[in-house]
Amino acid sequence: MRLLAGTAAVAALLLVFATAAPAARTGPVELGTAIGVPTLVSDPDPRYRDTARLFDALTAENDMKMYYQRPTRAVFDFALGDAMVAFAAANFQQVHGHTLIWCNDSSTPGWVRNGSWTRTSLLAVMTEHITRVLNHYRGRVSTWDVVNEALADDGSMRDCIWNRVIGGDWVEQAFRIARSVDPNVRLLYNEVRADVPNAKYEALLAMAGDFKSRGVPLDGVGLQFHLSENHPAQAQMEEAIRRLGELGLDVHISELDVPIWYLGPPTIPERLALQPEIYRRVAAACQAQPACFRITTWGFTDRLTYRCCNAKPLPFDEEYRPKPAWAVLQEVLRPGGPTRPIAPPPPPPPAPQATAASTGVLTVAARLKRQRLRTLLRRRALVVKLLLGGTDTASVRVTARLRGRRLASAVVNIAAGRTQTAVVPLGFGERRRLRRARRGRIVIEAVATDAAGRSAKARAAPTAPR
Ligand code: XIL
Repeated sequence: MRLLAGTAAVAALLLVFATAAPAARTGPVELGTAIGVPTLVSDPDPRYRDTARLFDALTAENDMKMYYQRPTRAVFDFALGDAMVAFAAANFQQVHGHTLIWCNDSSTPGWVRNGSWTRTSLLAVMTEHITRVLNHYRGRVSTWDVVNEALADDGSMRDCIWNRVIGGDWVEQAFRIARSVDPNVRLLYNEVRADVPNAKYEALLAMAGDFKSRGVPLDGVGLQFHLSENHPAQAQMEEAIRRLGELGLDVHISELDVPIWYLGPPTIPERLALQPEIYRRVAAACQAQPACFRITTWGFTDRLTYRCCNAKPLPFDEEYRPKPAWAVLQEVLRPGGPTRPIAPPPPPPPAPQATAASTGVLTVAARLKRQRLRTLLRRRALVVKLLLGGTDTASVRVTARLRGRRLASAVVNIAAGRTQTAVVPLGFGERRRLRRARRGRIVIEAVATDAAGRSAKARAAPTAPR
């Protein structure tokens, strides 16, 4: 018995040593960015895609959230997530998954938010969700935010359906479920406004320390860094990263943006001139702390940013021109020279013309799943499946009509032989028309044109948004 107790004590000590080794990255700090997948896959302007290729890692700004991937309990919709993963793979980029569970009722699907659940039934929903999503992206997404924003600013548990119904151990449960599904993916906790030691940060650190000491499978933490009024000193940022690192956790700056609103002087050019200094501090803090493995900017062009109203918070301007902030990130994080191209390449030459292998009659088929009106409005896009035959590649114009009138369209280049996805973005005006039409029918028309100038047409099974 004494021998057994002794062995247990040694094992416990080893565990403490194993988890207490500070985390350390093995290569340079990676640069990541958040992506709007509908824009990535269907913006006719190539500059969005070209600039996205300059980053080492991609995060879907919205399209992997439960709200978007799980419109109903029965439906998992991975089309946009898959499109981003495919883009990343083609460009040798890592993918960060954001996010399995978000403690934010207004960003939680209505069927969860308005359902009547018990602890057991909501844990079952959580298990089902985490299991399906992790299994779907297994091996293709290297890190996941298992839980996003579970803490309130005062450090208490934030109010949301997961906390109300499951209770205070809901975060721990989510991590345990995730680990049981995928033993290899890195499991992260992500938090807002805990970027430097403050009440929420201390609560986060205490939770992380508690998890580590009890073997709850937490591998790292994301500090969002949506900066606002305060521009923390480098030493404060370093302290926040270091103390998490000392628990053996990897840390990344997960959603960096630096609005110019709070940068002192009155004019936009003066404020813009101060912005690179803030970027420099953040980059230098991450670079100085071995636990810090990546900085992800929340978007990359001031044309498309989560912060509204002239915030201009990102490293590329509205015309995708690199700003001084981008130069600073390179200077600090790539002192030995770039590991990827640092500026968007010139527009690519026109795609090589396919030899129209006339292996038969050119065919195109299109399919649009029956979707709820709510889902279309939330995704801000129609996702159409296309299948091409009788040629190598073709350009396909997909047009959605509502009650016979053109609603929206997109052009995609696709290869023959396998089902591919076209995303037709729905702008503000289109969404308003859809909302007004309520039960109007959407019909999809796809016209494929190949290199030899042949064309083929398809109509998708009409669908009425419910
Ligand atoms: C934001 C997106 O940027 C917006 O497009 C969306 O309307 C709301 O969500 N913290 C997070 C992110 O973890 O998921 C949020 O992203 C920004 C704050």
